[in-house]
Amino acid sequence: MYLVVGANGYLGSYLIKNILENTGENIIATDIGSDFQAENPRIKWLSCDISKKENIEELNQLTRQEKDLKIIYLPVFFNVNKNPENDKKAWNINVISFANFLNVMENVKSFYSISTDMLFKKDSDIPYNEHVEISPMNDYARHKAIEERMAEAKGYNIVRLPVMMGPSLSPVKKHFYDDIISTLQSGKSMEFFIDSWRSMIDFDTVAKTILRLMEIPDAKKYPIVNIAGDEALSKYDFALRLAEKYGLDKSLIVPVSMDNDNKIWVEKRPKKILLDNKLVKQILGLNELKIKI
Ligand SMILES: NC(=O)c1ccc[n+]([C@@H]2O[C@H](COP(=O)([O-])OP(=O)(O)OC[C@H]3O[C@@H](n4cnc5c(N)ncnc54)[C@H](OP(=O)(O)O)[C@@H]3O)[C@@H](O)[C@H]2O)c1
Repeated sequence: MYLVVGANGYLGSYLIKNILENTGENIIATDIGSDFQAENPRIKWLSCDISKKENIEELNQLTRQEKDLKIIYLPVFFNVNKNPENDKKAWNINVISFANFLNVMENVKSFYSISTDMLFKKDSDIPYNEHVEISPMNDYARHKAIEERMAEAKGYNIVRLPVMMGPSLSPVKKHFYDDIISTLQSGKSMEFFIDSWRSMIDFDTVAKTILRLMEIPDAKKYPIVNIAGDEALSKYDFALRLAEKYGLDKSLIVPVSMDNDNKIWVEKRPKKILLDNKLVKQILGLNELKIKI
């Protein structure tokens, strides 16, 4: 049995799709009252706001008898508009609620939580592997660093991910990927950074890879594993490939430099942060790990 917490987000929807397609297991999926839920007799949806301890306790009561409970934990508060109220909310969701969740849930066979390449802030041509000392670039990453330590202390697992792309599977929540397509289809231009590179990868490949790791008991001995694409891609490179795939007008894709930007990101961001994916390839016996566009 899989328990996917925060299952109605972008990655959560792809995890549900891939559990249904690639395993024979049933799913308990939690959300916090969404307008859309994927329907399938193998999925049981439950409402669970992880900031409410009683919700976590109910979830524990429902799952404590399950054999082989495999948990994937996704909730996050991405604190982009920093102010005292949001700071407090972010700390509560990302740190306090995560700690409560770890403390309350019994009967866990395997537990994977999700971290980020934003744990690194120094530009580098060399991809960061799982052993390099972290230097979180913002509050979100500082919270992820605390989550990592807590998960490790419990003997659980963490996957670190770069920026992910892909069409949203929800009809009520679009992703940036969908926005690029609809903007270019409507004949409007769009700006993309040409000089900011990440080991970008797609939601579907990440979901498949997480599940493969969870199905291999041996993978548990690696507390932190990067799942990342082989290539260093800029958003500009990505947009060109997307336009190519959908036959859209590439001249609408406008290259801009991070050096001239003061509207998309207020704080300074590193240009090149890559994640080394050798370990996940070694564990799963993969030759390549490429973004699917
Ligand atoms: N997307 C990326 O490029 C990326 C890169 C690296 C790491 N990650 C990590 O991957 C995970 C999944 O990200 P995603 O892109 O799929 O983002 P997402 O769509 O925002 O998924 C997060 C989910 O958590 C839920 N959530 C938020 N607050 C909650 C609460 N109090 N109780 C229960 N659920 C709550 C959200 O519900 P609502 O939809 O109702 O708000 C959402 O479904 C996150 O931990 C994120 O930090 C993402």
